[in-house]
Amino acid sequence: MRTPMIAGNWKMNTTVDEALALVREMHSGIHAAPHVDKVVCPAGICLSDLEAGLEAIANVDKVICPPFVSLASVKEIIKGSSIRLGAQNMYYEEKGAYTGEISPLMLASLCEFVILGHSERRQYFNETSEIVNKKIKAALAVGLKPILCVGERLEDNEAGRTEEVVAEQLSRSLAGIGSLEGLTVAYEPVWAIGTGRAATAKQANETIGFIRHSLRRLYTGVVAEGVRILYGGSVTADNAAELMKQPEIDGALVGGASLKADQFISITKQASEIKGSG
Ligand code: 13P
Repeated sequence: MRTPMIAGNWKMNTTVDEALALVREMHSGIHAAPHVDKVVCPAGICLSDLEAGLEAIANVDKVICPPFVSLASVKEIIKGSSIRLGAQNMYYEEKGAYTGEISPLMLASLCEFVILGHSERRQYFNETSEIVNKKIKAALAVGLKPILCVGERLEDNEAGRTEEVVAEQLSRSLAGIGSLEGLTVAYEPVWAIGTGRAATAKQANETIGFIRHSLRRLYTGVVAEGVRILYGGSVTADNAAELMKQPEIDGALVGGASLKADQFISITKQASEIKGSG
């Protein structure tokens, strides 16, 4: 019922030229040297899969989120393809004297998705759930589809407060929002981001199940069943299959591995094979 999604959060990486090179590689595939055996699958990645690129992978929403400055050029490259575009943040005001900020209206003509409430924004830029709430409302008002990130810090996890933290982030970020149409949630435990220490598939599945349960309480069962919930935090081609096999996990928000075309294609391919058919 929910289409799986693999989204790449490139964070503050790639110049415009590098972004274009990366998206070209992802789109049309990685072409092995003629002497390389195409059926060899190092680390589970088959060269024949990589050669086809993202374009050949069906039944999964493929989203890339490059830095703001590359959105327009990347948009041109992926025009007419099945790759979809997202931004990594935005301000909530429509326009005005907010030097350096990017508004929902500016993004609406450039991309379809916007990541909001990422823990790096909460940590380094003092974003609170109240700010995230304003941003979600502003995004939905112009037809942008938010990817709302929630997740607990290590100390919360160790103190057994994961559910409490995540439930509070959810209810405050979604306060006053009547419809969740277009919204995706990403569960990203802070301790798993960029650390190489992903949550176990069981942990991720349980917390995502809890997130859906919280949505059920905040809205209705039908609404909660319709919301796509991703896992994020050290997802790679090596652990993707295990995570994607979990019934509650609808896909992944990928950081570091989304900067490598072979990894991102492989993760997407695995999600499509495991989740895409049903
Ligand atoms: P990593 O995949 O690099 O751990 O980052 C996850 C993330 O923060 C995606 O938004």
